[in-house]
Amino acid sequence: MHIVKSISHSQIIYLSLLKFLSCKSTFNQMGVPHFLVIPYPVQGHVNPLMQLCEALAKHGCKITFVHTEFNHKRANSAGAGPDNLKGSSRIKFVTLPDGLDPEDDRSDFNKVISSIKGNMPAMLPKLIADINALDVDNCITCIVGTMNMGWALEVGNKLGIKGALLWTASATSLAACYCIPSLIHDGIIDPDGIPTKNQKIQLSPKMPMMDTADLPWAGLSKTLFSCIVQEMKTLELGEWWLCNSTCDLEPQTLAISPRFIPIGPLMESDTNKNSFWQEDTTSLEWLDQQPPKSVVYVSFGSLAIVEPNQFKELALGLDLIDKPFLWVVRPSNDNNKANSTYPDEFHGSKGKIVNWVPQRKILNHPAIACFISHCGWNSTLECVCSGVPFLCWPFFSDQFVNRWYICDVWKVGLKLDKDENGLILKGEIRKKVDQLLGNEEIKARSLKLKELTVNSSAKSGRSSMNLEKFINWAK
Ligand code: UDX
Repeated sequence: MHIVKSISHSQIIYLSLLKFLSCKSTFNQMGVPHFLVIPYPVQGHVNPLMQLCEALAKHGCKITFVHTEFNHKRANSAGAGPDNLKGSSRIKFVTLPDGLDPEDDRSDFNKVISSIKGNMPAMLPKLIADINALDVDNCITCIVGTMNMGWALEVGNKLGIKGALLWTASATSLAACYCIPSLIHDGIIDPDGIPTKNQKIQLSPKMPMMDTADLPWAGLSKTLFSCIVQEMKTLELGEWWLCNSTCDLEPQTLAISPRFIPIGPLMESDTNKNSFWQEDTTSLEWLDQQPPKSVVYVSFGSLAIVEPNQFKELALGLDLIDKPFLWVVRPSNDNNKANSTYPDEFHGSKGKIVNWVPQRKILNHPAIACFISHCGWNSTLECVCSGVPFLCWPFFSDQFVNRWYICDVWKVGLKLDKDENGLILKGEIRKKVDQLLGNEEIKARSLKLKELTVNSSAKSGRSSMNLEKFINWAK
């Protein structure tokens, strides 16, 4: 809801500026921090930022959540959007246009980012002034942006408003991006981010050895890599780099810089309040009918696209396993086109196929046995917090870093291997499901990791204490 008034544009700017300036002397009067939060408009950023907002609201903070107009409409029409948010009077939603037309392809990163950067920075100061004008005693005290939204911290910096980053991937992915200058200096990657050779490296002396092929930008274009380099410079304006992680999950990584502050896992609520697709709640009823720890859950998050040949192989693999399965086949991000064709031989009789599910609730259902996952960081954390073991199927960027942690550092999952043509074959799927479900050590470690992780955000856990420090700083 873009704030609109029935007075002229120049009057608005003048009044808003006056009120904003008067606000500067009074905004601490309430002693309540007021956060303006702005995610890069994808599900994987919106969800953890929304969870952070719910945690901040619980501490009595006020929050203004900036959605793009497109995502605001999308979430509302999916039935889980901001208009339906109940009991969160401390969280208000406002919108800004992303500068694209409704029919534009929002899965095209270059198009989206250049439109956002070309349009939104000029509109944000007026939005802030308008918000402050409506609440002079409790003006915005801090801007929190996610990756690619560092420009909002620049705007805040010019207006004298504090800034912080919410990093929505793992702290190790952030550490890799933070280390880019030294990786180039040491000849480990070239100036375009390409590893000079395949080798094992340590991002800092105590961190586990990582494969250069797993660096989060491996496989991305030069343009995307230079976007990351540029963004890392801008993000230095954020005094806090809030990581949705814990001291137990990534202990050595978090020591890499005092800016890295773990506040995770952000699990304030077991629902995703801003889903872009309508959640199929019949999946929970279907799970109720299945035996405990019997169902293989399959989902690849909100962005990954499964190529047609791979899709067929996966369908046949799910037919082969001796277990029920729940498979999320999401419509594409490009105007919700369906993009999957099932092979003629596919039965699917043991499974349920749906468009989108309430994932947090699904993973916590006692019928779930394991998760075939793309290893997006949100899915990774949600699965860790459910104590469910993984079968890892990463597609791009930080998902390879997450697979490395799941399989080699925490040892709570197995890799699905590709054949010489780059396909994960049906036989591999069946073999790995059997291996995983027969591995009692992995199951026991998954439960142990769940306990450690969930405790971090319990009342006296380290992540909760960090969050409290952050809130006090933001006043
Ligand atoms: C992206 C990147 O892919 C990921 O690697 C990065 O860490 C964050 O941004 P995405 O691909 O969507 O995110 O994956 P993920 O991080 O797992 O986020 C998906 C979110 O959608 C999760 O919060 C999950 O609970 C939710 N989800 C997924 C649903 O609510 N329902 C579903 O059916 C599937």
